[in-house]
Amino acid sequence: MSNIVYEGVNWNKPSSELAQVFWDQQWKQIWFPEEIAVSKDIQQWKSFEHQGTYKKVFAGLTLLDTVQTNIGMNRVAAYTDDLQEKAVLTVFDAFEAIHAKSYSYIFTTLCTNKEIDELFEWIKKNEFLQYKANKIADIYTSIKESDNESLWKAMFASVMLESFLFYSGFFYPLYLGGQGVLRNSAEIISLILRDESIHGVAVGFFAQGIFSKFDTEKQDELKVWGYELLLDLYQNEMKYTDDIYAETGLSPDVKAYVRYNANKALMNLGLDTMFPDEEVNPIVMNGIRNEGSTYDFFSQKGATYAKAKVVPISDDTFDFSNLN
Ligand SMILES: [Fe+2]
Ligand SMILES: [Fe+2]
Repeated sequence: MSNIVYEGVNWNKPSSELAQVFWDQQWKQIWFPEEIAVSKDIQQWKSFEHQGTYKKVFAGLTLLDTVQTNIGMNRVAAYTDDLQEKAVLTVFDAFEAIHAKSYSYIFTTLCTNKEIDELFEWIKKNEFLQYKANKIADIYTSIKESDNESLWKAMFASVMLESFLFYSGFFYPLYLGGQGVLRNSAEIISLILRDESIHGVAVGFFAQGIFSKFDTEKQDELKVWGYELLLDLYQNEMKYTDDIYAETGLSPDVKAYVRYNANKALMNLGLDTMFPDEEVNPIVMNGIRNEGSTYDFFSQKGATYAKAKVVPISDDTFDFSNLN
């Protein structure tokens, strides 16, 4: 038997500068996909021209949120020493599971079972999607016990995933929703985006705390590692974008949005931006401004959000006789 002295998490005194703030904000934003009326999109969906692209966008996001649930947040939390920060990361992980499930809710509302089966097969076969999942997951699974360098690298990878790689997918529902097309599905994406904004800021902040303790030489070495990883992921992301957006003609707009978010990911990590400023499609930018950006994540629940009324638990709660 081991003889470790286990400590309890003590929230009575602050051990981490912002853990309480991130905790409060994340719980304030709790939501469930079933609270959004995606079925209202069915009518528009029937005549929607680019169903193939739309489905692949959501399938790709499903994979990223699955990896983030099972490997990313999970491992970063496991190797984080501060018990308050660990608790915050564990809560974030639960939200990743909600995100990953929410795409299935959209699929089940809009697609046939056969289409859904095909999509989950497509996830396994798309080389660019699998490339980014592998690249990021390898860094997560390389964290070593009591090793801040590998933990910082995993946090860097996590911010790349959440503040940068998700956005090639987020673009499409935001772009369409901003024009009144498939608005309820877009609402789900805006709620996910709002969570990712906190996650990117929080994990970036925790990473900066670790980074500040390295000497200058190590910091320089890690920066080179980080920018090389970003470039590698960026090149793959350009190919992924061309692949899934081919039939829509939107690739150039998606790519500009991806570069914009790559810069934001770097800012979350306290590092210099990499890409020159450029204009991002205003429809998508409006969507973000309304739903909370990286620096404005203290926003309200979305416009079409209708939270189910909470009924107190009674004997009737456990009466399932009316469900056949
Ligand atoms: Fe997520
Ligand atoms: Fe996240």
